Amino acid sequence: INKINIAIDGPAAAGKSTISKRVAEQLNYIYIDTGAMYRAVTLLYIENGKDIINNLGNVEISFKRQDSNRVFLNDRDVTDEIRSQAVTANVSEVSSFEEVRNYLVAMQQKIGLEKGVVMDGRDIGTTVLPDAELKIFMQASPRVRAERRLLEEKARGNNIDLDKLTSQIIRRDELDMSREISPLVQADDAVLLDTTELSIEDVEAHILYLAKQKI
Ligand code: C5P
Repeated sequence: INKINIAIDGPAAAGKSTISKRVAEQLNYIYIDTGAMYRAVTLLYIENGKDIINNLGNVEISFKRQDSNRVFLNDRDVTDEIRSQAVTANVSEVSSFEEVRNYLVAMQQKIGLEKGVVMDGRDIGTTVLPDAELKIFMQASPRVRAERRLLEEKARGNNIDLDKLTSQIIRRDELDMSREISPLVQADDAVLLDTTELSIEDVEAHILYLAKQKI
């Protein structure tokens, strides 16, 4: 059968990674979390300072999927660290740097060459995989997104106030939508999917239905 690429973009905590993982599993495709790549570079930036941005050539980011989706920075497993508050607070700024975007977009495009990829992020349908056969722009109300993120944080043992989470999410979206290079915007040919009132199963089924029309 014909393999396609699926681009899933949208604001923070809209459910992109949960859904993308499930869709990839159903289709036997590779799932690529590009947000994790920006988070890994942000972790390096916090630890090493600005100079690292000009030396990204030595940085290898990879995903290993034995148990869960683990994220590696060279040989170091950074899966948990990249979800820290410090990384989340700085990731939008680091993601706005041209060197960072050039480096990661090139890496992501290489992964997309073979098709059979579900990739989620902010600029996948517009910049990384403009020829993706299926593009989804996933939206949900800020409150619902904060509530979903709150559950995730609780599961990790973090207790964060819902109002604080809501304002963090709104702030991050503003930065991502207003940056100069490939800002968060819906691609002209993307399907808009508002998941505010939908279950994970509903969204997954709908995307699989759209994908199967293209395969
Ligand atoms: O998807 P996640 O919320 O983990 O992404 C973290 C941050 O990484 C986003 O807020 C955004 O600043 C950046 N990002 C990006 N382009 C992507 C994916 C993520 O700029 N394709």
